[in-house]
Amino acid sequence: MPNHSETKTPRETVTVTDNSSGRSVEFPLLSGSVGPKVMDIRPLYNELGIFTYDPGYTSTGSCKSAITYIDGDQGVLLHRGYAIEDLAEHCDFLEVAHLILNGELPNPTQKARFNDEITHHSMLNEQINFFFRGFRRDAHPMAVMCGVVGAMAAFYHDSTNVHDPRQRMIAGERLIAKMPTVTAWAYKYSMGQPFMYPKNSLGYSENFLHMMFATPCDDYEVNPVLARAMDRILILHADHEQNASTSTVRLAGSSGANPFACIAAGIASLWGPAHGGANEAVLQMLREIGSKDRIPEFIARAKDKNDSFRLMGFGHRVYKNYDPRAKIMQRTCYEVLEELGIHNDPLLSLAIELERIALNDDYFVERKLFPNVDFYSGIIFSAMGIPTQMFTSLFALARTVGWIAQWNEMLTDADQKIGRPRQLYTGEKPRPFRPLADRA
Ligand code: CMC
Repeated sequence: MPNHSETKTPRETVTVTDNSSGRSVEFPLLSGSVGPKVMDIRPLYNELGIFTYDPGYTSTGSCKSAITYIDGDQGVLLHRGYAIEDLAEHCDFLEVAHLILNGELPNPTQKARFNDEITHHSMLNEQINFFFRGFRRDAHPMAVMCGVVGAMAAFYHDSTNVHDPRQRMIAGERLIAKMPTVTAWAYKYSMGQPFMYPKNSLGYSENFLHMMFATPCDDYEVNPVLARAMDRILILHADHEQNASTSTVRLAGSSGANPFACIAAGIASLWGPAHGGANEAVLQMLREIGSKDRIPEFIARAKDKNDSFRLMGFGHRVYKNYDPRAKIMQRTCYEVLEELGIHNDPLLSLAIELERIALNDDYFVERKLFPNVDFYSGIIFSAMGIPTQMFTSLFALARTVGWIAQWNEMLTDADQKIGRPRQLYTGEKPRPFRPLADRA
């Protein structure tokens, strides 16, 4: 029986007044489990006949999500409530993938089952082999990945019905399982080396490194320290709430597009240098700077509004504090260089000096620009022998988990609609048509 004497908490609202018409409308304030409140503006156009204007979505929540939480001011990143530091320290990548996809860390039985599912889906349809061969050998691996992942819809039709939860799960597991193979094959193809098939006896990151660096001619033992470092790097990139590529996947998926097409769209968005392409750009920048005495010149360029140069690996839309992933990445970088016996790596010492100078410069301090996840990852990849062009592909490999989880969450959200932003039209007003002969 409802208790009628119970007092209802008054609904929190924000009142918006259109001064031109004098009309006011109250909009509900929604509260998430943590984080700022969100004003529900869905009735805005119906009530007041106006849209909002927010290019780059700086103040707009495009969806609700229970996967990842970021507090950019405090430098906090949580997946399903767990701190990234704990996950990176205590879990392997597939445990984190299970968490992101299903909401909970796996128990031992679930872990064994999930590992088994992923391991046994890592081989590609043999025909895809020929698809690779259509590309130029010098193609950028991200171009190859966009093409191959998009083409997977043509090979795995039995998992493209987005309304069937089982098909969605199979497509997700296929993508997570096959992405290391696609990534490693993009590399092998660029090197003119034979493709290495996945080995079911190896763990996820170990298997990836094996497919990257082994050849059929020699036995190849994966270094466990490097495999663990790779696993940690994958964890650090696994999801990051509504960033550009994830929002792209959601937008593409909102029309009911198949999962392979949506992930290919995510890869395309990630490629840009303001997003996942930054790890490649950091290394290019460090090589261009070349020596510590040239750092002031590049800092001055980064501050010059007439110069398009930006300090790559610095700044973030959400983090206005040290990116927590960058701290773990820096530690991992030291571990890898130590393991490989690389002392006094010139790029690392250049990066450390660049970071020191930038963090003491008013321009960067005032704008709260700190190193982000991409600042140190390139140095680790490069020490592992991974060529610069491959860096963003590794980001795509890791982020596939987040993309799939977010895509699935979107498709099961009762509030979900096809994404269709509105605009502030600034073009010509209606005007009379002029026949060709009358146009000057
Ligand atoms: N170097 C120099 N100035 C910068 C930088 C930078 N890296 N980043 C931001 N600024 C300045 C910017 O010019 C602006 O100055 P002002 O207020 O005087 O106009 C101010 O800081 C705010 O920048 P913004 O461009 O309005 O910020 P945003 O949230 O739109 O951009 C960003 C975020 C990540 C695109 C940007 O910081 C950037 O381009 N960084 C370099 C590329 C990079 O490292 N990207 C990886 C991001 S983390 C991984 C991922 O998302 O994939």
